[in-house]
Amino acid sequence: ARRVTLATLRGKYRRGEPITMVTAYDYSSAVHVDSAGMDLILVGDSASMVAHGHDNTLPISLDLILHHCRAVVRGAQRPLIVGDLPFGSYESSPARAVESAVRIIKEGGVHAVKLEGGAPSRVSAAKAIVDAGIAVMGHVGLTPQAISALGGFRAQGKTIDSALKVVEAALALQDAGCFAVVLECVPAPVAAAATAALHIPTIGIGAGPLCSGQVLVYHDLLGMFQSPDHSKVTPKFCKQFTNVGAIISEALTEYKHEVEARAFPGPRYTPYKISAPDAQGFA
Ligand code: KIV
Ligand code: NA
Repeated sequence: ARRVTLATLRGKYRRGEPITMVTAYDYSSAVHVDSAGMDLILVGDSASMVAHGHDNTLPISLDLILHHCRAVVRGAQRPLIVGDLPFGSYESSPARAVESAVRIIKEGGVHAVKLEGGAPSRVSAAKAIVDAGIAVMGHVGLTPQAISALGGFRAQGKTIDSALKVVEAALALQDAGCFAVVLECVPAPVAAAATAALHIPTIGIGAGPLCSGQVLVYHDLLGMFQSPDHSKVTPKFCKQFTNVGAIISEALTEYKHEVEARAFPGPRYTPYKISAPDAQGFA
């Protein structure tokens, strides 16, 4: 199958067909997402939480994002792959933002970058990256890299003023040249207003049904963290389409029991035989 491009996405958007996106962080998850026929993969800085066990997305470095990008690129042939610009890699100046975005494209091998926020400085950064020839996805509403200033993972756009800010930020990012904008954790009417106001796709997460597409975190939608003593909880907007964590735990427990009971490997999984000396080709 041919690689999804910005033209593919524009076509789906024009026809009103929902755009599908999910995160991936390594080779095997990228293979799975590609096999499912997803349009877009996000190598998200959510890797900080689901792959590295941090409480938020702030600690992950650009170098680590690059490692994740390279692994995902090897696994996914068709989806357009977007790499997240991590916290600390683009805020200080548009020049810094361009340098980091260039590394994500050149060293990470992905096709586009995403940055968070719609304040004038972020819009300038987005514009500078687009001017450098790199496709940029915006991200407004709840922007987890701003957790310190936002005071926690909380929905945005719940008052008229902040709802207007969300829509204005999305419009500003569109004017900067972004090809799409993620709307995270905003009331459905706010997402609907942004989607109606824009002429580029909106990709919702916790933003209701009236977006041009949807994105979820791989581990959340698969129900990866289901052991009762695990602190990671699935966000309330995320449907768990399966419960992979329970399946993995069962299989690991069974393997452990079989080893302890000397039931595994047994004759069935002991394939290698010692060759007879006269059968080694010296005859
Ligand atoms: O890093 C991430 O997973 C994201 C999505 C939630 C949009 O930015
Ligand atoms: Na992110």
